[in-house]
Amino acid sequence: MEGNMPRGLENIIALESEITFIDGEQGILKYRGHDVQSLSSHSYDEVSYLLINGRLPDKFELDSYSKKLKQERVIGDDAIAILKFCNFNIEAMDALRTAVSYMSHCDPELNDNSAEANVNKGIRMIAKFPTMVAVFSRQRRGLDVIQPDLSLSHGANFLYMLKGSKPTDLESRVLESDFILSADHELNPSAFTARTIASTLSDIYSSVIGGLCALKGPLHGGARMAVMEMIDEIGSPENAERYVMDKVSNKQKLMGFGHRVYKTYDPRARVYKQLAREIAIESGNMLWFDIAEKIEEIAYREFVENKGKPIYPNVDFYSAVVYKYLDIPPKLATAVFAIGRSSGWIAHCLEQYSDNRLIRPRAKYVGPDLD
Ligand code: SDX
Repeated sequence: MEGNMPRGLENIIALESEITFIDGEQGILKYRGHDVQSLSSHSYDEVSYLLINGRLPDKFELDSYSKKLKQERVIGDDAIAILKFCNFNIEAMDALRTAVSYMSHCDPELNDNSAEANVNKGIRMIAKFPTMVAVFSRQRRGLDVIQPDLSLSHGANFLYMLKGSKPTDLESRVLESDFILSADHELNPSAFTARTIASTLSDIYSSVIGGLCALKGPLHGGARMAVMEMIDEIGSPENAERYVMDKVSNKQKLMGFGHRVYKTYDPRARVYKQLAREIAIESGNMLWFDIAEKIEEIAYREFVENKGKPIYPNVDFYSAVVYKYLDIPPKLATAVFAIGRSSGWIAHCLEQYSDNRLIRPRAKYVGPDLD
């Protein structure tokens, strides 16, 4: 605490929202009143509809929503060319930010801030994010661009566009669940950033781009890439003890652990751990799962048992293990997180626009007074 101000706005209730509920003590997470664990077996389209519209769709509504999303999956040759210009040693996240910005220039509804136009733009972003990330990744590997397959689900189609072959049923289900588990998380830094931008009545593309920029940081969504790199660096379960103890003795943060709100196991991490186990078994290679489980065991002993600190795996820990089994390169990890999170950002922007008041807090001035 600084004076009576909690640093980093910890525990400050900044606004009312009907989108996501978190109980950080009990480890409960609900989207629009539905427990995230039960939602993880739905389709991403259903959950995306739920976040944006406030309730799950009936069959007719879902068919029509999915059809719109599928029709919007394609990106133009100009966007493909823009993504080719991004061909440096950058993260897919940086390319995605550029591509979304370019996409906004081409949208005739860019500056139409009506609810209807904002939903249309939201659907376009949700639909095109996977294509943009896959196109970037393939061009940077010198491979041909693969057009979306409209017969596949959101998750399966992304894997198909990325790899050029149809994923297994388990791979499709795992990525679909990943998008759902990543879809929203109350007033996390990227949602707050997106809402702050929306509160100025700037357009929804600018707001979502702000969300992308915030998600990239290693204290937020960037931790997923860092966990993938950590698992590679550790290399075998036997090396985990030394790695974690080095972090602990040097007072460095262990990536994929700890949370501002959860003082217990992150409920998403539980689901991800199960998905990681399933996909590891299917692959016949338990190595990455075993390394992760060993890290978790040592971290529990050090943080929870020895120090009494509630530092448990967060959403980014076992999701990183899942990405390794899906053969998603680390530099794509944050952008893949963003594909899932797009629905949450759009839901937050729509809620902000629907009952807007400019977000403009104060700072306590502590610098010199020279005149
Ligand atoms: C996400 O908010 C959201 O909803 C975000 C998210 C979402 O869905 O949008 O859930 C996604 O961003 C997950 C978090 C990903 N980041 C990481 O995994 C990076 C590693 N974790 C941390 O740096 C940290 O736990 C944060 C940033 C997530 C939360 O940090 P806080 O609330 O600011 O806590 P803090 O850094 O002030 O730490 C409090 C104490 C400190 O010890 P003391 O100085 O009090 O003795 O806990 C310790 C910290 O040193 N601590 C850790 C730790 N996390 C906290 N120590 C070692 N490793 C860690 N990971």
